[in-house]
Amino acid sequence: METKISEIADGIYRLSTFVPDIAPPAGFTFNQFLIAGDEPLMFHTGLRKMFPLNRDAVSRIMAPERLRWIAFGHYEADECGAMNEWLAIAPNAVAAHGQTGCMVSLNDMADRAPRVLQDGETIDLGRGKRVRFIDTPHTPHGWDAGVMYEETTGTLLCGDLFTQLGDGAALTEGDIVGPAAAGEDLFQYSSLNPGMAATIRRLAKLSPRTLALMHGPSFAGDGAAALRALAEDYDRRLQDRSLAAGAIEAA
Ligand SMILES: [Fe+2]
Ligand SMILES: [Fe+2]
Repeated sequence: METKISEIADGIYRLSTFVPDIAPPAGFTFNQFLIAGDEPLMFHTGLRKMFPLNRDAVSRIMAPERLRWIAFGHYEADECGAMNEWLAIAPNAVAAHGQTGCMVSLNDMADRAPRVLQDGETIDLGRGKRVRFIDTPHTPHGWDAGVMYEETTGTLLCGDLFTQLGDGAALTEGDIVGPAAAGEDLFQYSSLNPGMAATIRRLAKLSPRTLALMHGPSFAGDGAAALRALAEDYDRRLQDRSLAAGAIEAA
C-alpha cells in the first residue's frame, strides 16, 4: 500500500491510501487531511495499523512532531484509531472534538486530555487558516458526529458524508452524489434519522467551494448543490423506509 499526497486547496493536503481488498473489485480509499497552518491540524488520524504509512506520508510535508491538532468526524477506528500514536510522537498535539465525543469517548480513550469544542467554535491555526467545528449528531453516523469547515479556503471536511468506492482522481469537478448513493446502497452506513437531511442542508448554507471526502475524491465546485442533492437522497431513503414500515404495520 502507498499513500498519495495531493494539495486539494491552498495549504490543505489529502493523504490517500487505497485498499483494494475492501469492497473489491472497486476497492476503497482512506483519506486524511493535513491543514498546514502555524498550528498544523490533521483531520482523521487513519487506522492504528496504518500509522507507520501515514506518519511517513506526513513527514513528506512537515516534521510529524509539529502536529498541533488532531481532529476527526467521530470516534471510530479509521477516523481516530491512531490518535494515541500521534499524541505520542507530537508532544504539543491535542485531540479536538465536540462535547459529546469528549464526554463519551475521548476523556477516557485519549492519552492526553482533549480540547472540547462547542458547536460552531473555531480554532485559529495561523497562516490564514481557521477551522470551525460543526455538530452533526448521528449524521452520517455516530452520536458524537461532527464536521470541520476551513473558513478561508471554503473547504468542508466532510468525514464519511459522500462515501464512495474506488480510487478516482484526488480532486474532481464531476458528480459525487451518484457514487455516494451507490456507496450507501452497498454499505448502508448511515444512521437514517429524521433530522439527517436538515443537518446536511445546514451544511449547504456554508456554500463550500471544496468538499474533502474521507472515502472518495475531493470535490471542487458548487458544494451547496451537492449537499442539497445528498439531503434529497436521504429524504427519499427515509421516506422509503417509513412507507415500508407502514406497509408491515398494515399487513
Ligand atoms: Fe465512520
Ligand atoms: Fe470513515
